[in-house]
Amino acid sequence: MKILGIDIGGSAFKGAPVDTKTGKLLAERHRVEVASPCTTAQGVAAAREIARHFNWKGPVGLGFPGIVVGDKIGAVGNLGDNWVNQNGAALFRRATRCPVKLYNDADAAGLAEMKFGAGRGNQGSVLMLTFGTGIGSALFYRGQLFPNAEMGWVPWRGKPFERFASAAVRKRLDLSWEEWAVRVNTYLAVMERILSPDLIIIGGGVSKKSDEFLKFIKAHAKVVPAKMHNEAGIVGAALAWEHAGK
Ligand code: BGC
Repeated sequence: MKILGIDIGGSAFKGAPVDTKTGKLLAERHRVEVASPCTTAQGVAAAREIARHFNWKGPVGLGFPGIVVGDKIGAVGNLGDNWVNQNGAALFRRATRCPVKLYNDADAAGLAEMKFGAGRGNQGSVLMLTFGTGIGSALFYRGQLFPNAEMGWVPWRGKPFERFASAAVRKRLDLSWEEWAVRVNTYLAVMERILSPDLIIIGGGVSKKSDEFLKFIKAHAKVVPAKMHNEAGIVGAALAWEHAGK
């Protein structure tokens, strides 16, 4: 199937047509910057621009940085509060004039890594973490997704862990990779105590820089970088179409 995948991030919407059989992008991705926080009007305009850029008339899958139950948006991490409780699928359907499926962004990225990337064929318990503006998470057991696991929101010293160990925090505090990895290790220790995953996949923009930090990471589970890097979000958003049908 050919699906337009759109990955919604804290600072930009990124999209490309995806072949869901191969997991490959069918064209160079198109990126539209948005303000932070991003209003629904801005977000809807960004999605419209991406659909127009590809002159898209087919199905659209979107990865959204917050809880998505059915078509409805629940709690939102960093995009902006006016998305909360909106019918996200209806908003984007109107914007793109295309049929739409909306999934949590980390769940979407996890689907892509499980099908085409670092989790391929793994039948155990897998925790996919995406480090970006926040920390996204996706949980799989025997290849099945447990949706909307918000493991970046587990509290640490009175704040969600994502305010302590996200990639944005590393940049903001100008931490070295090693200093950041120490924080990530604290986080992974808590994740392992709660979930005992067999495999932890580190995704998000940092997955391209795994040479810099993986050597400092300590965990009982096997820890690997996401293979699809940032493309996992776009490919996974497209895969939401197949997954939703299951
Ligand atoms: C949100 C998650 C999202 C993650 C990554 C968090 O702030 O609560 O739903 O997956 O950021 O975007």
